Amino acid sequence: MKIAFVGKGGSGKTTLSSLFIRHLATTGSPVVAVDADINQHLGAALGLDEDVAAELPAMGARLPLIKDYLRGSNPRIASADTMIKTTPPGEGSRLLRVGENNPVYDACARRVELDGGSVRLMVTGPFTEADLGVACYHSKTGAVELCLNHLVDGQGEYVVVDMTAGSDSFASGMFTRFDMTFLVAEPTRKGVSVYRQYKEYARDFGIALKVVGNKVQGEDDLDFLRAEVGDDLLVTVGHSDWVRAMEKGRPPRFELLEEANAGALASLRAAADATYEARDWGRYTRQMVHFHLKNAQSWGNEKTGADLAAQVDPDFVLRESRPSVGATA
Ligand SMILES: Nc1ncnc2c1ncn2[C@@H]1O[C@H](COP(=O)(O)OP(=O)(O)OP(=O)(O)O)[C@@H](O)[C@H]1O
Ligand SMILES: [Mg+2]
Repeated sequence: MKIAFVGKGGSGKTTLSSLFIRHLATTGSPVVAVDADINQHLGAALGLDEDVAAELPAMGARLPLIKDYLRGSNPRIASADTMIKTTPPGEGSRLLRVGENNPVYDACARRVELDGGSVRLMVTGPFTEADLGVACYHSKTGAVELCLNHLVDGQGEYVVVDMTAGSDSFASGMFTRFDMTFLVAEPTRKGVSVYRQYKEYARDFGIALKVVGNKVQGEDDLDFLRAEVGDDLLVTVGHSDWVRAMEKGRPPRFELLEEANAGALASLRAAADATYEARDWGRYTRQMVHFHLKNAQSWGNEKTGADLAAQVDPDFVLRESRPSVGATA
């Protein structure tokens, strides 16, 4: 299950992603955590020391390796140089699985031990001025988008991405790559204005979008969110002393998280899990092709000097492959 946390800067994306990741880890489910936010704080929120977090390998710096692995023997992709962030998989491409070992994880992921389990953590690397806005080919999140487009994740396996609700993810199609998008909103006009913008982009693509109210104190906050986002409001989280203690570098055991907040995390998981039955790999594949053609036309063809539409394998549909009986891999 692919799950994104988006929202305005400072709304609590990293905090809630990290709590959700900790929650999933306690269930023993395979989890890949991805920091794709402009401000790279997920590692620290998962308890890594700042210097360890700063040393994490950046996906953005390992794009050639990622591309070379994913293109495999796909004859439509002549070289890693012609592969852009939206290049879809086809016959011969290598796909990624959440719980496996592969060269992409070897190069880009590190294990993080949490109470009651461990997760893989991958980070895009810090953003620079050039990464933001129009310079699509510089995009750090491109590495994440490529991985998501080559990922065959099953029920009970999770990829959780901490990201922004920025224009970059709308241009590339990144925002359509998730089974569930949690929009973190504080009960303020600015908080819900990001929701409106996201909702508008999401409408045409059948995005499952739910609002998680954060730093919600009392009835007035709740009434405000209910009035502004209606049925899209899934759950609210209040101020957490557990989070505050973690911010001081003294995280209590995770089982000591406030009961109401633990309940909210369980609701997030249930909402994400519930989308499984409605999965449509055909649509998922069509959407990635749609955005690939759009990006090819607007900058990719010119950038690579190739006709990137020819990378599309018309017969290919990404789908979950269950390991066959007796498989050892
Ligand atoms: N429920 C909460 N209880 C207590 N503190 C919180 C809560 N949610 C967020 N915070 C605090 O608010 C601050 C901002 O949260 P966080 O870093 O998660 O936001 P963000 O959306 O990821 O921000 P950015 O856009 O800068 O990446 C942090 O100091 C965090 O500890
Ligand atoms: Mg953050």
